[in-house]
Amino acid sequence: MKPVIFGAFEINQVNLTSQGLWAHPDQTTYRYKELDYWTSMAKTLERGGFHFVFLADSYGYPHIKGLTKPVVFEQAVEIPNNDPMLVIPPMAAVTERLCFAVTASTTYEHPYANARRLATLDHLTGGRFGWNVVTTSMSVVSELFGKELIPHDERYARAEDFMALTYKLLEGSWDDDAVLVDKERRVYADPAKVREIHHHGPYHRSDGYFDCEPSPQRTPVLFQAGLSEAGRSFGAAHAEVVFLQGRDTDLVRRQVDDIRARAVKAGRSEGAVKTVTTLSIVCARSRAEAERKLDEYLAYVNYPASAAYYSAMTGIDLEALEELDPDATFSSIQTEETRSSVARHGDEKLREAADHILRYGMRELIVMGPPAEIAERLAEYVEATGVDGFLLAPFTVPASYDEFADEIAPALRDAGMLAEQPTGTFRESLFPDGGPRLPESHPAHAARASGAGVV
Ligand SMILES: Cc1cc2nc3c(=O)[nH]c(=O)nc-3n(C[C@H](O)[C@H](O)[C@H](O)COP(=O)(O)O)c2cc1C
Repeated sequence: MKPVIFGAFEINQVNLTSQGLWAHPDQTTYRYKELDYWTSMAKTLERGGFHFVFLADSYGYPHIKGLTKPVVFEQAVEIPNNDPMLVIPPMAAVTERLCFAVTASTTYEHPYANARRLATLDHLTGGRFGWNVVTTSMSVVSELFGKELIPHDERYARAEDFMALTYKLLEGSWDDDAVLVDKERRVYADPAKVREIHHHGPYHRSDGYFDCEPSPQRTPVLFQAGLSEAGRSFGAAHAEVVFLQGRDTDLVRRQVDDIRARAVKAGRSEGAVKTVTTLSIVCARSRAEAERKLDEYLAYVNYPASAAYYSAMTGIDLEALEELDPDATFSSIQTEETRSSVARHGDEKLREAADHILRYGMRELIVMGPPAEIAERLAEYVEATGVDGFLLAPFTVPASYDEFADEIAPALRDAGMLAEQPTGTFRESLFPDGGPRLPESHPAHAARASGAGVV
């Protein structure tokens, strides 16, 4: 079996996907405000052979029909929520190989300010950095930012324009050899090799020089997760890693095939986009013991908090099924929030799927048993779906990561599924045949040649 990618799914909050699990006796996520929480996590992840840690993010919190229920604060559902970018430099400082990915929104960030933060993090991590591009589904954010709510597909049109400007800033403003740091001649940078960019797009406009000198990768590794029609086209055009989710291997296989076919249609190679699917692991000596352990974790899930979380992401209030027609299928629902979480349940009836969603949150694939069995199951899953890797959602921190490092990683290494990560940039570790920069077949390349053009 060839090595697969393992990422850790994180958030700068106390609950990740299972609302209520913050109160589990082993849980230390309440320490998310402490630097040492993040630095020791980074060291454990590197020891465990993780390729990267991904910090999900969104501004906002559950706010349905003008109301934020008390349970949101009682159970810390998406709030409090600290800035994920700021914990990356300390984590990078204590690791050599671990890479980092973080979410930033094309709907709410400003392209220029965002590009500067991306370049700064790419510099400070030595090129071990990725950006998860999201269009932000939570509607309360428009109120927090004092903006009109932008309809779903238009958010993707804005994202296209955001990317076009981002590429010009990161790729087109400074030549590779612009920075001299020549102390003898006392010249820091050659002015002839720094150019103004001009972007007059349908949504964004910028004229002038980019603030940052070229970072190791220039554009960080691009991640994406939208599964709507608009989201898939966007991912196929821009993303280098696409996050998927699903229990059903056929469904995931179709998603993998679809993203690869779309990438080829967009003029990229089939292997230009890696697919990584979310995973939860329950490790125990036997399957029965693992099932007991899973029940023990899930006993902490708070259903009203879970419903609030789901409603924030999808616009569907599972606690008010009577208003929705519980016999309707998910595929009949269209919301302006997210399409993919809803589409995943397709022909299931709301009433039937509700219990599962409330209990498991966003956990779809859960693999249980002794380490060797877990490795075997994951190998079968890779074989059946064609995914390139997994994003591990821990139950408790740091226990889930220690368990991975001490028990699961050795079994994965024995099965040939976990290789030692190289040092160097994130992009080169994912695509060893290419360099640290995006390839010529990627749309960012155009920004290198036409940086000075007005679009
Ligand atoms: C593993 C994973 C991680 C995600 N992380 C984020 C995130 O950090 N922030 C966010 O707003 N959405 C996140 N999403 C949601 C997607 O980015 C996307 O917004 C959502 O699936 C809606 O897609 P659509 O607009 O194409 O329907 C994540 C989805 C998955 C599967």
